[in-house]
Amino acid sequence: MRQLFIAVFAIIVIITLVVVVFTADQAYREEQRLHSDLKQRSTLLSESLKESIEPNFINKPDQQLQYLVNKFEAEERLVGMNIYDNKANPTATSSSLTANIPQVKQIAADAMDQDQNAEDFIQLGGRKIYLLATPLHNENSVVGALMIAQNAGYIDTRLEEIWKNNLVRFFIQSSLLSVASLLLIYWVIYKPVRNLQELLRSARTGNPQKNLQNVSSLFFFKPLVKEVTSVGKSLIEARSAASEEARLRMEQLDSPWTAHRLKEYSKDILGSRPIIVVSNREPFIHTKNGNINYYVPASGMVTAIEPLINACGGTWIAHGSGNADKLVVDSEDKIKVPPDDPKYTLKRVWLTEQEEKGYYLGFSNGGLWPLCHIAHVRPVFKKEDWEEYKKVNDKFTQAILSEIKNQEKPVIFIQDFHLSLVPKMIKQTRPDATVSIFWHTPWPNEEIFSVCPWKKEILDGILGADLVGFHTLAYCHNFVDSVSKELESLIDVEQFSITRNNHTSHIKPFPISIPFPNGPQSKDDGKILQGLNIKTKFVGVGVDRLDYTKGLLEKIKGIEIFLKNYPQYQGNFTFIQLAVPSKSKIPAYEQFVKEVDREVDRVNSLFKKNKPIIWLKKHHTQEEIYKFYKVAQFCLVTSLHDGMNLVSKEFVAARDDKKGVLILSQFTGAAKELKDAIIINPYDAVETANAIKTALEMPVMEQVKRMSSLREMVKGYNIYRWFAEILKTMTLLG
Ligand code: UDP
Ligand code: G6P
Repeated sequence: MRQLFIAVFAIIVIITLVVVVFTADQAYREEQRLHSDLKQRSTLLSESLKESIEPNFINKPDQQLQYLVNKFEAEERLVGMNIYDNKANPTATSSSLTANIPQVKQIAADAMDQDQNAEDFIQLGGRKIYLLATPLHNENSVVGALMIAQNAGYIDTRLEEIWKNNLVRFFIQSSLLSVASLLLIYWVIYKPVRNLQELLRSARTGNPQKNLQNVSSLFFFKPLVKEVTSVGKSLIEARSAASEEARLRMEQLDSPWTAHRLKEYSKDILGSRPIIVVSNREPFIHTKNGNINYYVPASGMVTAIEPLINACGGTWIAHGSGNADKLVVDSEDKIKVPPDDPKYTLKRVWLTEQEEKGYYLGFSNGGLWPLCHIAHVRPVFKKEDWEEYKKVNDKFTQAILSEIKNQEKPVIFIQDFHLSLVPKMIKQTRPDATVSIFWHTPWPNEEIFSVCPWKKEILDGILGADLVGFHTLAYCHNFVDSVSKELESLIDVEQFSITRNNHTSHIKPFPISIPFPNGPQSKDDGKILQGLNIKTKFVGVGVDRLDYTKGLLEKIKGIEIFLKNYPQYQGNFTFIQLAVPSKSKIPAYEQFVKEVDREVDRVNSLFKKNKPIIWLKKHHTQEEIYKFYKVAQFCLVTSLHDGMNLVSKEFVAARDDKKGVLILSQFTGAAKELKDAIIINPYDAVETANAIKTALEMPVMEQVKRMSSLREMVKGYNIYRWFAEILKTMTLLG
């Protein structure tokens, strides 16, 4: 504020100087003008009088001259007149002019001495008087002088007026200017700078949401806002990443989490509170093809969640999608699972064909799935699908509410994008329930998310949860950004919490994992390769759902380039791709599968010595998959975008020989943790090809070093620990 006054004071000083200089100049000019005007008038008068005085001046009687002088005395501004003889003695004087004043006489004498007009100003009786003396002649000699005395006081009055007017004008102008400058500097510079300071401070202390409210008042500092905001964001991200890493490091000192330890831990912290898991996909699907059978669907979500509820017990509510599901449930639509060794209850929710079409195939997988993944497939949002989505979310909610109606403070753990509205729906009826939702896919940035026509409803639904989990910190930030863009809420970026309608949701990263150790056990009995008639020395493996996000076309291209660029491997190399059909009723998937099939055939036909790609398009059990992991020299994961990607962790878990190399897309959540993999950009086929060569030629020592560190990583943060942390956070919240 002091600086503000100094700035205004400086402006006033400058203006004062300018005004003084200009006024002095104006006064000087005016004085000159009035002076010359006075002189001109006096000279004219004196010349005309001279004509009456001069002829025979010496002989004129004094009375005649006095009469002449008196006659002019009444002239306006004329103070008086004197006539002097050649000795400068007055012969006729105006009554009001003291002719004998030496100063006056001297002027008359000067005029006579120099034979030309002499002039001066004098002060007489408190008045300023102008005197003009003109020599009087007889023939050619000077015989006297005529003196005109004019009142010159008006010149000073006029000059005073100029100064006075200018100063008054200056005072008014500078007052107005000072006030205007003060206001202008305050609004346009001082306040924006203070706002900017606040912005920087909030960025430094980690609360950039605050700053957005002040943006409009920043005037020409506005362009800085984006920069400062992103600097602040980076600071917060760096801080969270550092504390997350520190936490992981600290906790890695703990002994590994196991199913048993999790079971004890959950009993300890939950007591009698039941766990309810809710998801679209069920962990066991019953089918009838003659006999009734069941299988575990291919889904990262199922792979991760099943061992948890298996360890802790509880109820899993999911869509009954198998054609024999209804045949095996009890009157409450429940069945104890796993079917061979029951540990928990699976409660099935039935959907009509129309509901499945709108909610699952349409809104969830045709809209939200591509929206959350940057895989260049357009999301399709249809109103009728959205209506089904809402209906089915409500259906799931009713199933949950009926399940918990006699339970106090239940712990409800909702999975994925299919059920985004459930958290709020549950909380509205059962505020005592502790609700968490885990998002198994990436969360896109706020701009991408904003294309969803029902984005606000989805965010609002999710924010019903007490805890919202994502795989990575980056997805958490994206989610918070979406909320900040779309909804009115109070965001605490430091705490990672969002408060809306008096309810606070905590946003946290929990990088999902697998049950390792204690995962699927399988030994390579040597029959896998034999059964497929694979005799090549080098073998690679890939395991994916047939999904356009998995980068299968890019994978095949990478293999083609590898064999072309390094022909020594032709005939000596086989890549086994386990590809399980998924969501095949969706047109984008149907189309994608056709394309991949064609591409596999094309590449296989290029190499005559052997078919380099073994394309196993069917569902495999975990035990089968682990056998493939064990016989391959490398595992290739090329997802174009993947929330986590559990296949990469499974490959690591399977390699108890500590050999084998993981080649992993940089666009997976897993790439943030599995740093000892060869990280690739799957869009770059040459990079993929070179990574395959590097993997095949990697010295065993190097493989062991990398694989050991990868295994430590997966073991240290396995799925049991993941859930322990979620439960711990949930119980702290309610
Ligand atoms: N999977 C399976 N059978 C198959 C193919 C895959 O059980 O035929 C499993 C695989 O072992 C992994 C899961 O499906 O556990 C896929 O999880 P990931 O996180 O890699 O991807 P998602 O399918 O969840 O996108
Ligand atoms: C992803 C989703 C899971 C889903 C899985 C398989 O991993 O995050 O929620 O279960 O894909 O898809 P599906 O529709 O067959 O369950």
